[in-house]
Formats: sequence, structure tokens, C-alpha cells
Amino acid sequence: MYKFLFRPLLFRLTSDYAHEITIKSASLLGNYKWLQKSTEALYGYSNRSLEQKIGGLRFPNPIGLAAGFDKNGTAAPFMQSLGFGFIEIGSVTANSCIGNPKPRTFRLTEDKSLINRLGLNNEGALTIARRLKYRELTIPMGINIAKTHDPSITGEKAIEDYRTSFELVKNIADYITLNISCPNTTEGKTFEEPEALDYLLQSLGIENDASLPPVFIKFSVDLDDSQLLELLDICEGYTIEGYVATNTSSLRDNLQTSESVVHRMGKGGLSGRAISKKSTATIEKIHSYTKGLKTIIGVGGISSTEDAIEKLKAGADLLQIYTGLVYEGPALVKKINRGLVAYMEKHGIDHVYHIRKIKNLQGK
Ligand SMILES: Cc1cc2nc3c(=O)[nH]c(=O)nc-3n(C[C@H](O)[C@H](O)[C@H](O)COP(=O)(O)O)c2cc1C
Repeated sequence: MYKFLFRPLLFRLTSDYAHEITIKSASLLGNYKWLQKSTEALYGYSNRSLEQKIGGLRFPNPIGLAAGFDKNGTAAPFMQSLGFGFIEIGSVTANSCIGNPKPRTFRLTEDKSLINRLGLNNEGALTIARRLKYRELTIPMGINIAKTHDPSITGEKAIEDYRTSFELVKNIADYITLNISCPNTTEGKTFEEPEALDYLLQSLGIENDASLPPVFIKFSVDLDDSQLLELLDICEGYTIEGYVATNTSSLRDNLQTSESVVHRMGKGGLSGRAISKKSTATIEKIHSYTKGLKTIIGVGGISSTEDAIEKLKAGADLLQIYTGLVYEGPALVKKINRGLVAYMEKHGIDHVYHIRKIKNLQGK
């Protein structure tokens, strides 16, 4: 129904407007319990083989909503009713921010990809934390934090900015993701510079506080091997639950869309099918470096069960989707979860975690 009815209608609108309408509707619909229940009956899917306990949290299935979709945490209850196994709100920043001027999101339909330069628009950590304090979700809710999009906030002020958000969300979030890889800031710099990251992790006091929720670090898909290993080396010195791999790309690789069209769209992070392989390769490298001991949330171009299996085999424990939802619609979550169960039955395995073993047994 989405592909034949809603997508053609939404795709007649600009990408920015379509998202605004979607998020407003989802936020509104979430206020009606009966509607949530009917949505859940339609889109929900549960199976014991998909359940996992990670970082002390129970994930009913491995498919999560990626950061960026629900930046202000207004749509979380409705998104839960779409069958997600967890949700990541944000990125949230210490100061509220209107983001970059519109247009700021673009569809590359041929590539089932998007380019966005939203620029960390959000209502600010305090407002969002107050909103989420009383949320009633039955699935884990992560909060993704980033530095406020303001080039005048650098050095110690940048650390303080991060710390403000961290302190505001640490008692509300089931897990926290540090988005160190947002490519859409005016200053163009990120905390993916090794010294900056080390100082940030030290300043947040992560290793000294057992009461904190699990902390994840989100990497860009554009890191080369040596950059990734250097950052992992730093992160592994702290009490980190795991990694979110990956964020969007600033490059324009693997595209069918014509160069001139892409050029006209301008700067921004590329997401969707175009980054899928690179994101899977990053997952593989993290899995191998951490010897499978850290939790990996795999994200980047998942729009089918096959994409999900590829990432699980690379070492991901949990998965997230954003761009796939835009192209495939909300039924994608159930479709992938069902597909995973069918795949496990076919291969005689009883838990989603063991999907990665099939690579070793059958060479693919
Ligand atoms: C419009 C848009 C906005 C995004 N905003 C954020 C954000 O605020 N914080 C973040 O960590 N990632 C953000 N992302 C990145 C996604 O969380 C995800 O890492 C990336 O899009 C790859 O997944 P996908 O191919 O399934 O979209 C955004 C992605 C899109 C498409």
C-alpha cells in the first residue's frame, strides 16, 4: 500500500516537506492509544529467536529506528507501534538549533539514497529531555547527542556543550550514542580527530561512573582503515558498550544518478543503498578489531532482509534503518524481521545472533 499509494503522494512533495508531514502525523497519532494498538496489530511481529539482551536492555527484535528521523523525540510512541525493536532519538544538542536553510534533503530515487544537510536542527537537550522523561515505551530508547551546530563553540566550550547534553539525558536514555561524525556543521570539523575524541571521552567521565547507561560511539562511513583503527584504539581505552556503524558519507561514490543532478543538490551526507557496502565493511573492521566483544549497531543502506543479513554476518548485533523507510515504507520492519526468522528456519539455527555463523559454515 505504501509503495502504490503513500509513496507516490509523498514523493510529489519536496523531501523536506514530506518528512515534516510524516513526523507531525506520527507525533499526533502517537497520542491515541487505541490507534497505536491497531497499528501494532498490523505492523508488529514478535518471535523469541529475535530477542536479545544487550547492555542490560531487552531488545524484542534487532531492527531499530536510526537517529535523525525523530530528532525531538515527539514520534517515539508511534514509531514503537510500527514494530521497531528500539529507537534512537536525536541528534540532540545542548542549544536548540534551526539547522541549515531549506531545501536541505534530497532524494536520489534511482539509487534509493538521500542527501541531507539538515545541520543538527533540534529543540535542544533540555526541552527534549523534559519531553522524554515521562515517555511510556516498552522498547529501549537511545538518545544520540552531538555538539551544537555553531562554529563559535570550539575547544573547551565544545566539550562543555557535549557535557551539558550528556548530563541532561543520562538518567533518561536507555543508552547514549555520541555522534562524533556529523558532517553537516559549518566548521566542517568533527570529534573524529583522535585527540579531540580522547579528550571528549575523558571529560565525560565515562569510565568512572557505573551508573551510566551503555554508551555507543557513532562513526562516519568515510574513515579510512588507519583513521578507524586509531579511533578504535582510543575508544577501547574507555568503558564503551559499542559502536554505531555508520553515519552518512560526504563522498558521492556508487551513484547511478547523473553527476550534474547530484552536483546541483550540493553538500550533505549521503545515505541509503549507495553507502551500504562501505558501511558493512566498517562493521567488519570494527568486529575484527574488537574480536567480537563489543556491541555493533549496523546502519547504512538496509532496505531488505538480505541487506540486514549481510550486516549481521559482518558482525552487527543490532541494526537501524532510516533511508530504507523512505523508499520501502513502514512495513519494512516487519518484512525484515519475518525474513530473518524464515532465514534462520531454513538454516536450522535458533537465534538471530547465530546468523553470523552461517558465513563460516557455508562460505557466504
Ligand atoms: C535526513 C537524515 C537526517 C539524519 N540525521 C542524523 C542525526 O541527527 N544524527 C545522526 O547520528 N545521524 C543522522 N542521520 C544518519 C542516520 O542515522 C544513518 O546513520 C544514515 O542515514 C545511514 O542509514 P540509512 O542508509 O538507513 O539511512 C541522518 C540521516 C538522514 C537521512
